[in-house]
Amino acid sequence: MPGLFILCTRPQMVRKTFIRIYRMVLKNLQDENAIHLAVYDGNKNGVPPEPLAREFPPEVWRDFSRNVAMPFSEANVVDVDGREVRLHEVIEEQLQLIANTNHLTVQDLAKSIGSYNYSRIDIRALEKLFNEMTHECANTYLQKVIPNMAELALAAKTLFKQPIPFLKANQNGSVTMSQQQCASLLANAFFCTFPDHLYPNDRLYEYNCFYFWRLFRRDIQSTVEKLKCLLYYFKQVTTSMPCGTVTFLRHETNATAQKFASSEQLLTEMKVDDTEKIENQTGLAHVDFANEFIGGGVFEGGCVQEEIRFSICPEMLVSCLICERMRDNEAILIIGAERYSDYNGYGRTFRWKRKEGVNSKDVQRDPFGHAYSELIAIDAVFFDNHRLNTQFDFECINREIIKAYAGFSIMTNQSFVGIATGNWGCGAFNGNPQLKSLLQLIAASEAGRPLHYYTFGSHEFSNQLMNVLKLLYEKNYTVGSLHKLITTYAQVKSNLSTPLFSFIERELGSKNAPASHDQQSSEV
Ligand code: AR6
Repeated sequence: MPGLFILCTRPQMVRKTFIRIYRMVLKNLQDENAIHLAVYDGNKNGVPPEPLAREFPPEVWRDFSRNVAMPFSEANVVDVDGREVRLHEVIEEQLQLIANTNHLTVQDLAKSIGSYNYSRIDIRALEKLFNEMTHECANTYLQKVIPNMAELALAAKTLFKQPIPFLKANQNGSVTMSQQQCASLLANAFFCTFPDHLYPNDRLYEYNCFYFWRLFRRDIQSTVEKLKCLLYYFKQVTTSMPCGTVTFLRHETNATAQKFASSEQLLTEMKVDDTEKIENQTGLAHVDFANEFIGGGVFEGGCVQEEIRFSICPEMLVSCLICERMRDNEAILIIGAERYSDYNGYGRTFRWKRKEGVNSKDVQRDPFGHAYSELIAIDAVFFDNHRLNTQFDFECINREIIKAYAGFSIMTNQSFVGIATGNWGCGAFNGNPQLKSLLQLIAASEAGRPLHYYTFGSHEFSNQLMNVLKLLYEKNYTVGSLHKLITTYAQVKSNLSTPLFSFIERELGSKNAPASHDQQSSEV
């Protein structure tokens, strides 16, 4: 019968897990690399956190190699045919126009956005979206929600009283902002106001984009549905602003392959489920099957796990603005982002659905103002269809373990212990689920955290995974011995014609199979 299968609840393992959690580095969100752009006061219910003011000299505000270039910065000027155009003023004028009009059309919107971007904005997806709406609904968005969004975008001038720093590669740190600040940044992304021209050129190769015009032009249905998610988010926040905070945290590990190869840590508990989805689990940290450019194709045609997650939880999109491309030993955590939409389908069949349930005002928050949600963004390696076997190379195996460990080994004082994951790297990135499930098991075991694995409807894979886990647990496998078993399988090219799980079952399944893999490796 499909459903939740509970495996391995050996008391000694549960005890060991807790001991290891206490040994882990707990990140304090108040440490010196933690930047707070707003102050949360739990006693002030129903009021957005106050923006935090800190004095910075003008040259720091204008240091766009370290800080976000804001649309309303006085530095936002361009030279047009030898004439200086104060773009920040043009943007302000256009947004005020939108905010104050009561007869906005989609074409007016495109014209305004085009005026400060110096190009014609293609809005076929937006037109399709508004054509699908009832007259009344289109009216609400065009005459109320979008004008309110323009106000929200303009509010960035007063909502940010210090520069927004980038979270740069290989530098641990975090940025915490209010949900209101997130909403204001997102409204600016909608109106495509961020001045990319102010950045040094290399930024464009190191960050995801943060504007909606690429979405506006794609008139495929899944993009229209993503736009519905985003507009529905704006409708909610402009009606009733959520009053919490969101933290974006970047973490690198210096763990090496040797750490896992020699570890005597017992394998952690792993529950397998074939009916549920990751994002529906409460009380667990959720894994984002990320792109190295966090958010992946969310502002374009992408519509798989990461893009869907970011569309239904738009505050996560702010990471596209501030996080530099992830390196192999890094992960990004997003703490406190709320979910505003529901959905059906997946990929081309993805469809927006209204989310029923708790109003943001009634959301439970931790002492920092975060709603209880945590996303662990880790990017797997993409494997070309013609070179699928390269994922069994020693370097690739270790790269994926270290990547997963970078995400799983970081916890804040408020973090959930258990992790909800699934076929990480096995869809758009073509990885092998048998291999990836065990590599994640290695990383989670070393981090001392239980895993909840969601097989996305595959009853067959659930059963296969549970059978293999049963064997590994029965034989008291450790992180080191499982690492060795996998690398032994991978070392002999002819093994690859047998699925990894069959190999493991053959090795461990026979009555005579020894408990320690050290003894059996010579037989392979
Ligand atoms: N819950 C559980 N499992 C899921 C869910 C879910 N909500 N959604 C998908 N799966 P994929 P990747 C399963 O392709 O291969 C994006 O563009 C399902 O079996 O999203 O790591 C990123 O930005 C699916 O086939 O992740 C990256 O560029 C599998 O998880 C790239 O895709 C993998 O989902 C990452 O590709």
